[in-house]
Amino acid sequence: MNMDSIKNDYQAELALVEDAQMLSAFWAKYLGKTGLIQGLMNEIRNIPKEEKKAYGQAVNEVKTWAQGLYDEKKEEIGCKEMAARYEREKVDVTLPAKFTEAGNLHPLTSIKNEMINVFAGMGFDIFEGPEIEDDDHNFTRLNVLKDHPSRDMQDTFWLTEDLLLRTHTSPGQIRVMDAKKPPIKVLVPGKVFRSDSDATHSPMFSQMEGLVVDEHITLCDLQGMLDQFVKALFSDEAKTRLRPSYFPFTEPSVEVDVSCFKCGGKGCSLCKGTGWIEVLGGGIVNNKVLENCNIDSSKYSGLAFGIGIERIAMLKYGINHMGKLFENDIEFLKQFKA
Ligand code: DAH
Repeated sequence: MNMDSIKNDYQAELALVEDAQMLSAFWAKYLGKTGLIQGLMNEIRNIPKEEKKAYGQAVNEVKTWAQGLYDEKKEEIGCKEMAARYEREKVDVTLPAKFTEAGNLHPLTSIKNEMINVFAGMGFDIFEGPEIEDDDHNFTRLNVLKDHPSRDMQDTFWLTEDLLLRTHTSPGQIRVMDAKKPPIKVLVPGKVFRSDSDATHSPMFSQMEGLVVDEHITLCDLQGMLDQFVKALFSDEAKTRLRPSYFPFTEPSVEVDVSCFKCGGKGCSLCKGTGWIEVLGGGIVNNKVLENCNIDSSKYSGLAFGIGIERIAMLKYGINHMGKLFENDIEFLKQFKA
């Protein structure tokens, strides 16, 4: 092949090259080790001696010329591909950001945390007992004796003759006193279960038990702690009132009311005109319960209380149906964003 036709083909073909892949095929065809231009170089041995010099120069010129055109093309394709890549990967920084909605704590979790914080500030530890209990811990050692009418105070889900879903967090008291000697100051939060369901009751709900056992514990300690509790949870002006009641595991037993935080005690729909709202039960731990846990009741005394967490949440947030707290209705739950 003569030099001129190679040059013509070279130019015509290079003009058709559009991308890096075509360029590398083109390079192999003309400029590679077995390419056409190297072929011209190899021809030199067939050239008569006196023409060798001129031929060699001419081939070198072609080679330099070809390399120059090739480099230009390479540069051009490089720029073109870079521009295409910029276009492809372009980010529009003026687009509005994608909206991701932040979640929030469930109101029961918030209330539970708030309650724990208040009591932790008074030095209470946390203990969590099992949700499946036996008769002994849930009833008998709490002085709720077999065939005694007080058993009917709580409608029980029995699993076997002896096992049940705990009806209250009070069995936590027994477990703590079995494990630890006084002084004891512990909170037992957790789920409890009763066969009961209406606007203010649910078969599963949560309680927080409190237990303090030490020397010289009296009802005054109970009221002092609960005063602090209602002030922290409801309002600085909130006060408590104790009314006599009955629980088998406490003697004396009390129902604790808080002064209505909506009307300040004047009487309104929330407190049904009385100025007071019942919030929890408590009392002085029955000596029999202490003895059931091998604690010397002549030396030690205890106070205990049990708070319904849903009830506190309903009062605080003005929720009129307990079911709302378990339905997981997103629109309802969104209202509790902090
Ligand atoms: N366990 C009781 C209930 O579920 C609440 C309660 C009352 C707990 C008095 C106590 C207490 O610790 O002293 O109704």
